Amino acid sequence: MSGSTPRRALVTGADTEIGRAFARRLHAGGDELVLAGGPRDALEALAGELDGAASGTRPEVLPGDLADPDDLDLVVRRLQADTRPVDLLVVGPSPPHTAGLPEADPTDLRAALDRGAGAVLALLRAALPGMLARRHPGPAGVITVAGVAGFLPATGAAGLDGAVQAYVVTLTESLAQALARDGLALTTVCPPPPGTGRGPRAVPLRLAPPTPDAVAAAALADHAAGRALSVPGVPTRALVSASRLVPYPAARLAAGRGGPRGRRGPRGTRTGTALVTGASSGIGAAFVDHLAGTGHDLVLVARDTDRLEATAERLGRQGVQVEVLVADLADAAGRRRVAERISGGAPVSLLVNNAGYATAGEFVDTDPAALRANYEVNMAAVLELTAAALPGMLARGEGDVVNVSSVAGFLPGRGSVYGAGKAYVTALSRNLALTVAGSGVRIMALCPGFTRTEFHQRLGQGRPGPDWAWLDAERVVAEGMEDLESGKAVSVPGAVYKTIVGVTRLVPRSLLRALAARSGSGRG
Ligand SMILES: NC(=O)c1ccc[n+]([C@@H]2O[C@H](COP(=O)([O-])OP(=O)(O)OC[C@H]3O[C@@H](n4cnc5c(N)ncnc54)[C@H](OP(=O)(O)O)[C@@H]3O)[C@@H](O)[C@H]2O)c1
Repeated sequence: MSGSTPRRALVTGADTEIGRAFARRLHAGGDELVLAGGPRDALEALAGELDGAASGTRPEVLPGDLADPDDLDLVVRRLQADTRPVDLLVVGPSPPHTAGLPEADPTDLRAALDRGAGAVLALLRAALPGMLARRHPGPAGVITVAGVAGFLPATGAAGLDGAVQAYVVTLTESLAQALARDGLALTTVCPPPPGTGRGPRAVPLRLAPPTPDAVAAAALADHAAGRALSVPGVPTRALVSASRLVPYPAARLAAGRGGPRGRRGPRGTRTGTALVTGASSGIGAAFVDHLAGTGHDLVLVARDTDRLEATAERLGRQGVQVEVLVADLADAAGRRRVAERISGGAPVSLLVNNAGYATAGEFVDTDPAALRANYEVNMAAVLELTAAALPGMLARGEGDVVNVSSVAGFLPGRGSVYGAGKAYVTALSRNLALTVAGSGVRIMALCPGFTRTEFHQRLGQGRPGPDWAWLDAERVVAEGMEDLESGKAVSVPGAVYKTIVGVTRLVPRSLLRALAARSGSGRG
């Protein structure tokens, strides 16, 4: 630690082994501590232990569940306080939840998303502006604890945890790249999941699983050195590198016998009723026309009543059955009505989670409420509507879910939350596809590159990049549906974008971040 004023660090998840290890190391190094986001007993016990240590002051304690908006708000306000300001934020791991999709209770799933991704978003947004203004030489900034599951395919409960970790990794790396020039360091640490190395196949990891203290030590050293990604232990680093080149074999190596098996869904064309969110323009509107042309009935979801009704009238004249469901997916009541239509009305055979947008401007200047609304539409709605669709589809032994993601999810470093949200959508879809393999249900992430729609206009931007880089929405949809029908879990339309995604697996992540940062102004 350097500087005349002691550094103050706020650590969440201090009820976990890794969170405790961070707190002990920081306290031993002379930092003043705030222990936040965990059960009161666990935080008080740790504060008492540190208070009894030879040096340092007793940590402040701010208990609570970060999935609870009121508890999260307390921590947000502590991070924004001008008195006793926080210079280093360590967002520790969120405790794992017990069941995965499709078994889990939707409320538990939503809490798991909020405790992981939602809390990281709110805490980073609360902490960074003050840190930028003060620039404590400590070093200051943020360490987020994710995991190697963010890079690996996984099934069951680990599938959602992995998707949340993909979000945390991508968001931290994106902001690290953008804020490094302002003197702030952001680092995400990716330890192996608890239990990795116990499987008989996981020989390399069994040899040297890092201890919680080694994870904290590596993360703090990497943070001090300004590294965005910290992967402790040589075997774990090898696993992360392998996961980018050969994700499925690497996942099986990490998980032992419980690893993912079949990769492709069943082949073939299907009809029935398709529900499309964001049906009023762009890629969603192209889905509507394509699906009407292939014999589907439709449920159209978006906020713009006039546009949806005009489409319903046009398609109705062609003999297509169309329902209009006006809903704002940023709003809990809107998402609930759509979820109820999916789980309770006439069966939906194809769900297209397409609604989405990017927020304009720099992360630290964007209104937290606008970031939260974007999180609800781009991330929470995808989880909640998929959770509403899967039980019926699995019971019928047939059904498809297409989640519209983006090539941006493969490109950390663009300084925005948008790519992180799309990294989550892609990982969630891929992991769910593995989870339901063999059930007759297909789940696919559709990852377009720049596509001619209203997306960039709504962002207040022109169309970045050369004309040849732009796809038509009709082509994105036609290629996406072909990929779904051939059983793919991830579809990247267009040769240009297939090549870009292929290259992202080969180049070092630090170079990828630097390259991605150069295209940061266009966030599609
Ligand atoms: N265009 C690209 O370059 C590109 C590239 C990769 C991925 N994508 C993804 O493709 C998807 C579709 O975007 P697009 O390019 O077609 O953009 P778009 O033309 O702007 O369409 C966005 C759609 O989302 C709906 N929407 C936005 N906020 C909503 C909310 N709160 N509640 C309900 N619906 C909402 C909009 O409908 P209302 O305004 O009527 O509500 C509209 O139908 C998004 O997920 C986007 O991230 C786009």
